[in-house]
Amino acid sequence: MMLEVATAAQLRQALDEWRSRGERIALVPTMGNLHEGHLQLVDCARERADRVVVSLFVNPTQFGPGEDLDNYPRTLDDDRAALAARGADLLFVPDEAVIYPHGREACVVSVPDLSDMLCGAARPGHFDGVATVVSKLLNLVAPDVAVFGEKDFQQLMIIRRMVADLFMPVTIEGVPTCREVDGLAMSSRNRYLSEDERRRAPALYQALQRVAGALEKGRTDYDALVESARKFLSEKGFEPDYVEIRRSDDLAMPTPSDQALVVLAAARLGKARLIDNLRVSLETA
Ligand code: PAF
Repeated sequence: MMLEVATAAQLRQALDEWRSRGERIALVPTMGNLHEGHLQLVDCARERADRVVVSLFVNPTQFGPGEDLDNYPRTLDDDRAALAARGADLLFVPDEAVIYPHGREACVVSVPDLSDMLCGAARPGHFDGVATVVSKLLNLVAPDVAVFGEKDFQQLMIIRRMVADLFMPVTIEGVPTCREVDGLAMSSRNRYLSEDERRRAPALYQALQRVAGALEKGRTDYDALVESARKFLSEKGFEPDYVEIRRSDDLAMPTPSDQALVVLAAARLGKARLIDNLRVSLETA
């Protein structure tokens, strides 16, 4: 049976009991509106720990003015049923006063080196909100392992850097992006797409595949590759925000000798801002 708690004290009680039995704990932080991609994070957590805690909190500090905080899909009943069926042990559903007891600005965690580029350039403050809430959740749960999706590649890099730099005693696991059959990365924001936009949406992944294919063939004219991907997206009706080729270990600009790369893109399609990425390894055996 899955427990559900809303306060830090209730959470501590459940965790203390498990820990006193020597059980390993995994945390899967979410904002709810769960899809198969989230449930695969739960599967990964179950493989790595005895107990799986899922947090569900629509974190206001990672939404900018004019973003979709108020309209962000909230589907608690469905999420609860899906998590119980997938074998989660505890659902933590705090309200804002639990997570921000002294207000939203009282304490902010920032990873500036990795936060101001890519999605951070278009969404100022977004990654400070993410780093802050993830620190709080890691402190509240003190898990042995915490699991995140690779779809939010920049977010995952920021969390890894934060955990390493603040010596947080937790292992961070990344889980490959879960895709629909036509290649579209699963995302809660896909539900903002109209029928016609949904048909066109896989072009984002196709754009990444085209760049990745060219890199694998040895092309190093990165500017031309991203420009042609932007053009492809515009032709498919997207408003590209960025298409970038970066080093996959630190998101720095690559040089032609770099072999571990990632192609990242964000683009608007109608009301939805979609993001995706594809890693490219040029290492020869
Ligand atoms: O990836 C998400 O859903 C959120 O950014 C996270 C990690 C749960 C923090 O609110």
